[in-house]
Amino acid sequence: MGFLSDALSRIKPSATIVITQKARDLRAQGRDVISLSVGEPDFDTPDNIKEAAMAAIRRGETKYTPVPGIVPLREAIARKFKRENGLDYKPSQVIVGTGGKQVIYNAMLATLNPGDEVIIPAPYWVSYPEMVGLCGGTAVPVDTTMEHNFKLQPGPLERAITPKTKWIILNSPSNPTGAAYTRAEMKALTDVLMRHPHVWVLTDDMYEHLTFGDFEFVTPAQVEPGLYNRTLTMNGVSKSYAMTGWRIGYAGGPEELIRAMDFVQGQQTSGACSIAQWAAVEALDGPQDHLKVFKKAFEERRDLVVSMLNQAKYLKCPMPEGAFYVYPSCAEAIGKTAPSGKVIETDEDFVAELLDSEGVAAVHGSAFGLGPNLRISYATSTAVLEDACHRIQRFCGSLR
Ligand SMILES: Cc1ncc(COP(=O)(O)O)c(C=O)c1O
Repeated sequence: MGFLSDALSRIKPSATIVITQKARDLRAQGRDVISLSVGEPDFDTPDNIKEAAMAAIRRGETKYTPVPGIVPLREAIARKFKRENGLDYKPSQVIVGTGGKQVIYNAMLATLNPGDEVIIPAPYWVSYPEMVGLCGGTAVPVDTTMEHNFKLQPGPLERAITPKTKWIILNSPSNPTGAAYTRAEMKALTDVLMRHPHVWVLTDDMYEHLTFGDFEFVTPAQVEPGLYNRTLTMNGVSKSYAMTGWRIGYAGGPEELIRAMDFVQGQQTSGACSIAQWAAVEALDGPQDHLKVFKKAFEERRDLVVSMLNQAKYLKCPMPEGAFYVYPSCAEAIGKTAPSGKVIETDEDFVAELLDSEGVAAVHGSAFGLGPNLRISYATSTAVLEDACHRIQRFCGSLR
């Protein structure tokens, strides 16, 4: 349609949202559907955070806020960066946005010119290449392998860098694979980046608190202080505090970049929701006890799901370090025939047939830039996961 912008043709619909909706529609038709496609914790926001929001409403904290966020929240974020990541950011180096998504988008909008390249390790969170494209840049996906647990290796990173590279986006623990970089793995990447001073680093640390066992989370500017002046350390309360609907994300970085993002946001949404910002202050400054509960539940579910998927014929599922996703390969199922009579040619066929024959909704890996795989979110109860994994085993067993 001539009325619509050219920019619209540069983006794809979010596959995760499409599949979640398809599962909802099937359920509305009366089908028994288990959705393993959602990207949010199934826990409720902790009570102390809800109380802080209600207190903020009662105090009348209901007006516009400064564009980059209320000072108490930027101070709480600065304390968080110091306490948990050993990073010194002044409140003037911190910006709060309406979800982590807006923070990344504004960083791209504030910095990308046509032709600028952004390196994105694949598989990636579906929104990165779309945001880069919308902002006029060129996404440069760099494939990882299951053999390396879907972690970017220094060699491929070095080869992907060109004079036009502006950013690399790192995401650990990762959506969609759950993979997280150890300090040594991160250092191998930051060593490469130190040799290319024109490349900036956007690190998406949304799943920081969701790592398992004694895994130590690290972020690039902490591992390599030499990158501090060209790193945007992005994070948010959505996943760690079960606050996806509150829409608060934030980032710390060089003052000039933060000012540019503030400038963009000022002509866009302005400050994030005042009440949600006060809730986020409580999230960051208040007790962190809920995290133990979240982590324990997610770790148990991860172990269950990985073990059950590895018992399914044709699936191979690596053990991720964090987040609440697994990313099994369905390569061995390609070429097999589903109960419907359809030959499975792609991972998209695999998830469509799985939904059709067993009512389990997962997202195909190719939507995240690397397949044939499927992304399974285990942010749901153990009983539901057991049922879903049995159905997946049955589906795989039915392939001929
Ligand atoms: C890797 C990653 N980054 C950022 C976000 C966005 O977070 P928010 O809901 O705060 O916008 C998500 C949410 O799915 C995510 O998975």
